[in-house]
Amino acid sequence: VVKPKVKWLGTPINDLKRMPECGGLLPPLRNVPGQHTTDLLESGNVSVAYPAKFKDTWDDVHVKMPCSSWNLFPVQDEVMVQLSVKEKLIRTFAFCGKTTHINRSLALSKVLDPDDAEHLFGSLLPDMVQLALRASELCTKPIPLLKRGMNHSITMSQEQVACLLANAFFCTFPRRNSRRNEYGNYPDINFFRLFEGSSPKKIEKLKTLMCYFKSVTEQKPSGLVTFTRKSLDKPLNWKSSQTRLTKLHITCEGTIEDDGYGMLQVDFANKFVGGGVTSSGLVQEEIRFLINPELIVSRLFTEALDHNECVIITGTQQYSTYTGYAQTYQWDGSHQDTTPRDGWQRRCTEIVAIDALQFKNFLEQFKPEKLNRELNKAYCGFARSEQRSQHLAAVATGNWGCGVFGGDARLKALLQMLAAAEAGRDVAYFTFGDSQLMTDVHEMHSFLTESEIGVGEVYDLLRQYNSSVCRSCLSRRPDVSLYSFIYQQVSSSLAMEILFKNNGTA
Ligand code: AR6
Repeated sequence: VVKPKVKWLGTPINDLKRMPECGGLLPPLRNVPGQHTTDLLESGNVSVAYPAKFKDTWDDVHVKMPCSSWNLFPVQDEVMVQLSVKEKLIRTFAFCGKTTHINRSLALSKVLDPDDAEHLFGSLLPDMVQLALRASELCTKPIPLLKRGMNHSITMSQEQVACLLANAFFCTFPRRNSRRNEYGNYPDINFFRLFEGSSPKKIEKLKTLMCYFKSVTEQKPSGLVTFTRKSLDKPLNWKSSQTRLTKLHITCEGTIEDDGYGMLQVDFANKFVGGGVTSSGLVQEEIRFLINPELIVSRLFTEALDHNECVIITGTQQYSTYTGYAQTYQWDGSHQDTTPRDGWQRRCTEIVAIDALQFKNFLEQFKPEKLNRELNKAYCGFARSEQRSQHLAAVATGNWGCGVFGGDARLKALLQMLAAAEAGRDVAYFTFGDSQLMTDVHEMHSFLTESEIGVGEVYDLLRQYNSSVCRSCLSRRPDVSLYSFIYQQVSSSLAMEILFKNNGTA
């Protein structure tokens, strides 16, 4: 008899909470100085921007806009002049074209059939130019920069996002074509690197993005998106936590974005959010930013994340599907996103960008300060102190920090379970095809739950593992694995307990 292959373990996925079913009531959307910036609704109408006229700012706390009158261009003899928006666009694009062979790459015509090429040059690109040119009409209120340490949200319409992204495509954001300036600690926003070279990967990325632009230029999207930068004001005292682990669903099939709908979905981020999405990166974070391109706008205003910070993005829509991963990634056509909207007209898709540490040396990650850093980072992403646990959706996650960043999946799974427990959320864990990992993590979770071992005790076991195994280790890898160490430690301390108990009663 052939045993059917096990695809998942633990709690059935449908027993975990999802939005919008589990959510509480949303307060009314409004502009709150210092906390929440939105130009919508003040006029009583979601679709009308406020103020009515473009407010031109050029300072170090707001995004410098392409349409600003301070956006000067050098002409002959280095005289700086103001140009009409259209001229600026043409000049910037021409500049990028010269330096990055934009035309060659954009001749997607090489890979497009004649009808598609005709559509691209005859209608899509002109429509995108028109959309980009509407910045001063659509984005009238200055967009604050989300700087280090700030706790601040920005809510904008999907239409505003589309306009900003069209500008990013045409590389019109001033001061953003080189990192050697005031935006050195910000991700790239202008797309010029996407037009460099002609690797098949970049072609697939461009196809995915063009699918988005086709959709938003043909039919104006009507919802909103919120970007929140959040920091943990004080690190948690993990050692003293009495919290019990929450429920775990673990599966070797499916993905965070497909099967974790309605959950808090983890973006395995770079501290520069979006990582290499506008250049050559093409793993979990970049793929998510390509299929949900509204995420890319976060790069316009989010300074590099600090150790205790995260970005939460609510309401983005999926426009494309894909096949493959990294080298084999391919755009697979457009996607109709039917995710319900919340009271602010946002798609119920909440994505949290948390950047793991990159480890070149395997043992490094078990050091106490690294454990603390990763725990606090994940906790910052998962916790919502203003909401009751009953309203919190499960966390949909997986091998965070364990691909490009070289972390150990068994350690990271435990750390994420501790952070989720502390935040009062269940976990749906996608092992991305690894069935051994699924079995191991499930067994560990069951063992800890059945032995009633809480967050603080697990934390202590991790510290012991570092001091007893890792610190004295001479090779690159520990000779005792983390999980076997935990099993040994717990059973020997249980044995000791029984021994003491028996002695006491004897
Ligand atoms: N759903 C579930 N699991 C996934 C998915 C998915 N859709 N995609 C990948 N995985 P990686 P990191 C699994 O390397 O190590 C980017 O450039 C798969 O097992 O993207 O945190 C960022 O910008 C994969 O090996 O995350 C950062 O610079 C593992 O998740 C850097 O990579 C880790 O995915 C972050 O690297």
